[in-house]
Amino acid sequence: MTDLEVLPITQYGNSILRLQSQSVPYSRIQSADLGELVQLMFYTMEQVDGVGLAAPQIGKSIQLAVIAFEGHHTRPDMMPIPKTILINPRIVDASDELVSDWEGCLSFSGATRRLVNRHKGITVEYMNDRGNLQTAEYHGFTARVFQHEIDHLMGMLYIDRISNEPS
Ligand code: NI
Repeated sequence: MTDLEVLPITQYGNSILRLQSQSVPYSRIQSADLGELVQLMFYTMEQVDGVGLAAPQIGKSIQLAVIAFEGHHTRPDMMPIPKTILINPRIVDASDELVSDWEGCLSFSGATRRLVNRHKGITVEYMNDRGNLQTAEYHGFTARVFQHEIDHLMGMLYIDRISNEPS
């Protein structure tokens, strides 16, 4: 078992954040190496109070992200999100309706949160860590988190989608 350590988070300005990440080959999905990386990503995310972390943010340009949110008593609009491992995700459907809400990003430490436009609802296809293809539909805050992390795997950042319209 790997000793758990907080991984350094790649900060804005590092060109890896602007790359299209490589797909994870099927043969690597159930490897011990990927399993350890996922474990370290969840640990790192918990330590820094994040709700999502994408592999480029820890210096790996691969299509892997982790998401989890326990919920918060002051934010009933932000539904808890179970621990999810996203491998090679694709947004296969998205609502026309966009919604604007506040977002931050672990790769912009110290930066202010900004109003960001996102699809209100999305359908995502991805592989889980057992190599099973999953299809899931998300709405609201959960859909926002998934869009933010999937963007990271495409080299897109939240500052690219800033809204000028107060919602
Ligand atoms: Ni981010």
